Amino acid sequence: MKTVRFGIIGCGLMGREFGSAVARWCHLTEMDVRPEIVAVCDMNETLTAWFKDNFATVRQVTKEYAELLANPEVDAVYIAVPHNLHAEFYCAAIEAGKHLLGEKPFGIDKAANDQIMECIRRHPDVFVRCSSESPFFPAVQRIGAMIESGAFGRIIEVNSGFLHCSDMDVNKPINWKRLLKFNGEYGCMGDLGMHACHMPFRAGWLPKNVRAVLSNIVPERPDGKGGMAECETWDNATLLCTAEDADGNDFPLTIKTQRISPGHKNTWYLEILGTKTSARWSSKQINTLEVLEYTGGEQAWQMIDMGHEMAYKSLTGGIFEAGFSDSILQMWAAFLQELEHGKPPSRFSGCVTPEEVALSHGLFTAALESQDSKAVCPIGT
Ligand SMILES: NC(=O)c1ccc[n+]([C@@H]2O[C@H](COP(=O)([O-])OP(=O)(O)OC[C@H]3O[C@@H](n4cnc5c(N)ncnc54)[C@H](O)[C@@H]3O)[C@@H](O)[C@H]2O)c1
Repeated sequence: MKTVRFGIIGCGLMGREFGSAVARWCHLTEMDVRPEIVAVCDMNETLTAWFKDNFATVRQVTKEYAELLANPEVDAVYIAVPHNLHAEFYCAAIEAGKHLLGEKPFGIDKAANDQIMECIRRHPDVFVRCSSESPFFPAVQRIGAMIESGAFGRIIEVNSGFLHCSDMDVNKPINWKRLLKFNGEYGCMGDLGMHACHMPFRAGWLPKNVRAVLSNIVPERPDGKGGMAECETWDNATLLCTAEDADGNDFPLTIKTQRISPGHKNTWYLEILGTKTSARWSSKQINTLEVLEYTGGEQAWQMIDMGHEMAYKSLTGGIFEAGFSDSILQMWAAFLQELEHGKPPSRFSGCVTPEEVALSHGLFTAALESQDSKAVCPIGT
């Protein structure tokens, strides 16, 4: 079993999810490569202490990311820090020759993403991918296989989204994700959008233009110090795009990202309507894939229990449903598989590529223009 020695920069919510996935690596039964966490970096000592307490392999703890990147023991890094730091940290990691899984949106805006893309071009030997676990739920993997086999026929419409609702609570204190300086002008699109774009982009359904309606529904929140602070970023975004299928036919693609979506604690959904088959899935009914196959006659939706049909084989019995932490583990399997073997086992079992991220920046930038001009805007590159 090959070992890839990892450093983690940013040990918050997502940094620790990676830690937990590493601790559960034995769950994956067919991997011939495994991660080992040897170094961690965060200014928050409670978080780095959690890694020290739980991972005997951690030999370097630092508050300075440059120190971690200078560590010759580190082969690869996971960087999970606020968006304003992405360009600086990702470029430094790539220049230090460390393979990188970086969190979305991979740059606070298009200029930052362009900088990262340029750095990637200059370092072709460094393997770089962006985090998005949304395709690794069994139902979404099954939809991927259906796309591969051409099951849908001509595409009628595709709807993909990621919805949150905790910001419905106007008393929820502001955090960095609501501030322009840290989260960027994209707002909810930067935060949630890559997840919703991952499957359509991987399917090759690329948006040509967009009409966006963006909303800032709660313009101020408690600042956590007794006062109020301005919420500068977009809460909700609905993007209606013209996309093109493999045969050159246009169809409507909607990408919806909302922080204020009543009743949706953390809902991923994907719906593909086609002339031969339609399929829809929502993480609200995580184990259920709905499929409608049309061969003439009645049009009836079937409900399929997905169980544990994973891209990367695991110990869990096939009948058992999957959850968020399973999809994170699968995403990490995808990263290591591709790092070690050069490609994922199938088209829909790979992490987001830098080119796909760049496309998302083109889309979100055009969406901001569309909101400003109230017009349909072409997607730039
Ligand atoms: N893939 C997903 O499902 C998912 C979910 C949530 C967040 N994210 C992404 O993960 C990234 C981090 O988000 P989070 O929710 O984990 O945030 P978080 O606030 O929980 O963690 C960020 C960490 O970065 C640390 N940090 C900040 N500045 C630093 C510096 N200069 N050096 C070292 N560490 C520093 C903070 O102390 C904090 O612990 C963002 O890009 C976000 O979009 C992804």
